[in-house]
Amino acid sequence: DLPERVTICEVGPRDGLQNESAIVPVGVKLEFLDRLVAAGHRVVEATSFVHPKWVPQLADAEELLSALDRHPGVRYPVLVPNAKGLSRALAAGVDEIAIFGSATETFAQRNLNRSVAESIEMFAPVVATARDRGLRVRAYLSMCFGDPWEGPVPLRQVADAAVALMSLGCTELSLGDTIGVATPGQVRALLHAVSDAGVGLEQVAVHFHDTYGQALANTLAALESGISIVDASAGGLGGCPYAESATGNLATEDLVWQLDGLGIETGVDLGTLVETSVWMARQLGRPSPSRVVQALGG
Ligand code: HMG
Ligand code: MG
Repeated sequence: DLPERVTICEVGPRDGLQNESAIVPVGVKLEFLDRLVAAGHRVVEATSFVHPKWVPQLADAEELLSALDRHPGVRYPVLVPNAKGLSRALAAGVDEIAIFGSATETFAQRNLNRSVAESIEMFAPVVATARDRGLRVRAYLSMCFGDPWEGPVPLRQVADAAVALMSLGCTELSLGDTIGVATPGQVRALLHAVSDAGVGLEQVAVHFHDTYGQALANTLAALESGISIVDASAGGLGGCPYAESATGNLATEDLVWQLDGLGIETGVDLGTLVETSVWMARQLGRPSPSRVVQALGG
């Protein structure tokens, strides 16, 4: 059965802009966030409190949040890897964070400079402190299907990593196909494995990158398997600077076209969103890769 309503977690301002070679001015980021909220988004990932040398594109996190006009009823989660990131995020007044773990050792080293076990140790006090203060905590899990260095990732390994992250006390789990290699049968199998391992699917989100054109098919498989939270990036912006061959996320417009057609509520207005991505493409100086933006945005 399909859900009646899907919560879209809009990751364009973070997953999208972290991968732009040019640094986007803070004023453009603020207008992007406002436009996404005006389009009806209620969860917009705003930025990351990571090391500014690792992701210079988001080094303006403090400036962005202090200037951001936070709309009531809108959640603005931010990525936080460690205690230092959490203290920066708390000082900026955030009310929701996301930690980000890896299912594979190679990506844990490349993205976090630590093993999988060491990264769980790094996250534990972050989640404990954040939960003590009443913050929601999303846990991302990357490389859930394939890893550019290790190849296909065993289901058991992914399910174990998912349980380890959720056991820290996280409120939501987002399963990432970081390099966009998954196909729908694998999505069904992983959701089954994660649910069998004791993680309730009402807490689980899917995070697809569209490298091989499978993101929408994978999303439908996930919805049919009991998922109702989907990550997407306006205009299909994005990728991960520490994962070779990752292209943009599933484009939010492509997702909304599908969900509108299925009669599934999202609260997001497609026309306003397309205008936003056309505007953003102009700021970035290249067209959006989203098929729906191309079809409607001309
Ligand atoms: P490290 O070098 O191991 O850090 O990096 P450290 O703990 O050894 O500290 C070294 C120095 O960095 C210290 O300064 C710290 O204070 C400072 P010093 O004492 O030497 O002057 N430092 C910080 N400064 C500011 N903010 C911080 C911070 N932390 C330490 N938060 C670290 C470890 C985790 C910091 C680094 O590896 C990092 O920043 N990684 C982030 C990489 C990243 O953002 N990747 C993209 C997001 S993940 C993604 O895109 C995937 C996702 O979309 C899902 C999917 O698609 O699969 C979520
Ligand atoms: Mg991603």
